[in-house]
Amino acid sequence: MIFSIIHDFENGFSNGILAAASQKKYSIVSLSRLTNKRILLGVTGGIAAYKAAEIIRRLQDAQAEVRVVMTRSATEFITPLTLQALSGNPVHLDLLDTDAEAAMGHIELAKWADVVLIAPASANFIARLANGHANDLLTTLCLATIASIAVAPAMNQAMWLNKQTQENCKKLQERKTGIFGPGSGTQACGDVGPGRMLEPLELVKLTANIFPNGLLDGIRLLITAGPTREAIDPVRYISNHSSGKMGFALAKAGVDAGAKTTLIAGPVELPTPARVERIDIVSAEQMHDASLELSAHCDIFIASAAVADYRPVAAAQQKIKKNSESQLIELVRNPDILADVAAQTSRPFCVGFAAETQDVIHYAQDKLQRKKLDMIIANDVSATDIGFNAEDNAVTVIWPDGQEAIEKTSKHQLAKLLIKKIALCYQNANS
Ligand code: PMT
Repeated sequence: MIFSIIHDFENGFSNGILAAASQKKYSIVSLSRLTNKRILLGVTGGIAAYKAAEIIRRLQDAQAEVRVVMTRSATEFITPLTLQALSGNPVHLDLLDTDAEAAMGHIELAKWADVVLIAPASANFIARLANGHANDLLTTLCLATIASIAVAPAMNQAMWLNKQTQENCKKLQERKTGIFGPGSGTQACGDVGPGRMLEPLELVKLTANIFPNGLLDGIRLLITAGPTREAIDPVRYISNHSSGKMGFALAKAGVDAGAKTTLIAGPVELPTPARVERIDIVSAEQMHDASLELSAHCDIFIASAAVADYRPVAAAQQKIKKNSESQLIELVRNPDILADVAAQTSRPFCVGFAAETQDVIHYAQDKLQRKKLDMIIANDVSATDIGFNAEDNAVTVIWPDGQEAIEKTSKHQLAKLLIKKIALCYQNANS
């Protein structure tokens, strides 16, 4: 009996099944699962290669980042320049291309990908993949990657029905490689039967289904992190001990949960988490401007930054000389970023932090009400092993009708718990 192979990707690749081609399990899939995901599109030689252009577009519509690797024979059907222009990234062609390797080496590319989708996948490519070849860039990448791999077969019906091709696909399936399609119908050569590549949108839906449902799929998350610096003169400033670790950990946890995440960062020495957009600012006023502008386009705002409450009325133009025994610097109150975001008519779900050294819960509850927040995270910053510039933290999460203490743990672990809690409260508020 002849089967087309369609996988049930509801839980990743673990439940592969042989199914009749008409069974379209992917129809219920949300494309938002592709937000921020990195898709390496492999294009092999076949007439369906022209459809790679549309696959790129559809993946990008779903907010995925796309990089393209083409086999040499694919370039006979569509030019690398076209796919480069559409993907916005250089197209990779050869294993031994020094320019391409310098930009992003093939191992780096293999590590970069969340999913490798090969569409169209020719009979020749499927045979090479099934047999573990590494004789071009694409097969080598497939051997080097730990990402999920899926192929979208596209070939003449006789080639697809050939026992050898069927065995190759079975081998791939046993290794949890996804086989998307093929569809059936009239072929470019005039034959009728199975072997047509699935349509781009169907392939994109199947690709989305590889990813488990994230708690914040499709949500736009904005986070402030780190300290601000308020200039006294060209060489001196007022600031605090915030390292940005808490906010950066939240950004990583947010993006891992599927959120499109933007981080407004004060001056900190931390690398930007992958797939997070970062905006660097220095002063509270700059953080205020960026937050108000970006919060108009976000669903959840988390203010973890330690914003300086005051700034010098005017920063001296020249370095202040130490001529006198004392020096008065007049300070003026900075705008309250969080309160201003929460005061907007069309406002995001607002989460604040309260850094306190005494009566922590009491002061945090006061800030929750006064700033009209949806949630506040009370942070005792009197201890040196948690809070400012520490690796760990311990907090109490407070919302209008409840609270929950989270014991000391790493900021990364805490961030995951906080994102979970925030996602649940956000969903409740919007259900
Ligand atoms: O950066 P780390 O070293 O990892 O340390 C993490 C942290 C201790 C800085 C963090 O967990 C934390 O508690 N951040 C809040 C620090 C703070 O300034 O708290 P606050 O109680 O003064 O402010 C209350 C809330 O209003 C905060 O969400 C703050 O971001 C916000 N705020 C305060 C003043 C202001 N002008 N604008 C604001 O938006």
